[in-house]
Amino acid sequence: MTLRLDYSNMMISPGGIAQKTWTASAQQFGPVKSAFDKLRASGSVGFVDLAGDGELLRQVETFAAQARGKYDDVVILGIGGSALGPIALRTALRPSGWNMLDDKERGGFPRLQVLDNVDPETIAALLSRLRLERTLFIVTSKSGGTAETMSQFLIVHDRLVSAKLDVTKQMVFVTDPKQGALRPLAEQLKVPALDIPPNIGGRFSVLTPVGTLPAALIGIDVKSLLSGAGEMAKRCDTADLTKNPAGVYAMLQWLADTQLRKAIAVFMPYSDPLRDFAAWFVQLWAESLGKKRPDGTSVGSTPLAALGATDQHAQVQLFMEGPADKTVTFVAVKERAADVKIPAGFPDVKELGYLTGHSLAELIDIEQRATAGALAKRGRPNMTIHLDRVDAAHVGQLMMFLEIATAYAGQLYGIDAFNQPGVELGKQFAYALLGRPGADAAKKEWESLPKADPRWSI
Ligand code: PA5
Repeated sequence: MTLRLDYSNMMISPGGIAQKTWTASAQQFGPVKSAFDKLRASGSVGFVDLAGDGELLRQVETFAAQARGKYDDVVILGIGGSALGPIALRTALRPSGWNMLDDKERGGFPRLQVLDNVDPETIAALLSRLRLERTLFIVTSKSGGTAETMSQFLIVHDRLVSAKLDVTKQMVFVTDPKQGALRPLAEQLKVPALDIPPNIGGRFSVLTPVGTLPAALIGIDVKSLLSGAGEMAKRCDTADLTKNPAGVYAMLQWLADTQLRKAIAVFMPYSDPLRDFAAWFVQLWAESLGKKRPDGTSVGSTPLAALGATDQHAQVQLFMEGPADKTVTFVAVKERAADVKIPAGFPDVKELGYLTGHSLAELIDIEQRATAGALAKRGRPNMTIHLDRVDAAHVGQLMMFLEIATAYAGQLYGIDAFNQPGVELGKQFAYALLGRPGADAAKKEWESLPKADPRWSI
């Protein structure tokens, strides 16, 4: 029961990483690992140690136990790292179409809705559907001040108060233990609040109550999720590159980008349960690694989500014959929760007859292997993450594997993988336009921007 990374197709010739380059890279990994260890030891990076955090798990289990049976819907108000992890967990670890199942089919656990945007159409539609007295709103924000999430909070709080409902029973906050507006608000309103440890930021927070609270509320085995993550953290705690899967992944992606000019990193699970996992990975990789180095140069490969086999009929043509600027990471799954045999019928029709006797699990698996082989044959490097199955322990492993790989890649690129200074200017402009106090400098800068020119509008 473990994750395996097969990177044979990254070492292809021509098109892949040369043996000599790879051998030399093993020497480069030692300093990367020790720089990351230093960050951990200084206490500034905490996500690797989450599996051993019994207190956080206790908070989550206690809350979920007392909430059992009280709610039909759990609604997350949160964006970015506060939303993508819970969505990925729900899709991966609950039966297909969870929110469309009836109470009995859901085993009495609630639906999980995630409001990760401020499009009024979606929010108005959801709020009009919900029975507020049977709904728990989880307000998730590490900073406790994100404009989108705070707007949603204000709207929902107002609806609850107008409906004369007790906000302490319909809301829970997940936020930093000290910083931001949500923590004092929790105290003022007496709303329960769970912690996101100060040294864990949004996109690395899925294994904190950001992900584990909603997961526990909808019946996901959070202990297994964390223990899978813990196993992977141990596996990746070696400076020997050949034994460190996250190190290998980071090194391969970094070499492919910086030496082979493969600046696009496609992530392509052949598994519907992992469809939303790809979006979680895209944020993790993009927001962590797309940065300016201290010398001003811009770095980072662009992650791109795809789904097998669906995208064989949408994007694979581009991967095969378009610019040779991509790596593809497949995720293959050995055992699926269900399989369907392809029945006999129309044996004389050549497009149908050969399918008989196979199953859909076989078909999707063969298609993954065929696509990987075809890409390799055309000199397009790719690799495959093999999972025995999509269960809580494997998803925990996969999440920790990719988080650690992202952190190592940050070291290789020479940037801070844990900040996001690039989103600040846009935020400041939005504050200025919304009239937030203290945004005067941004307002001036906004006003000095070139105005829309009618000549360039059609
Ligand atoms: O990964 C990140 O840090 C961001 O994407 C945040 O998750 C996002 O901006 C939301 O921030 P917050 O949780 O502070 O509301």
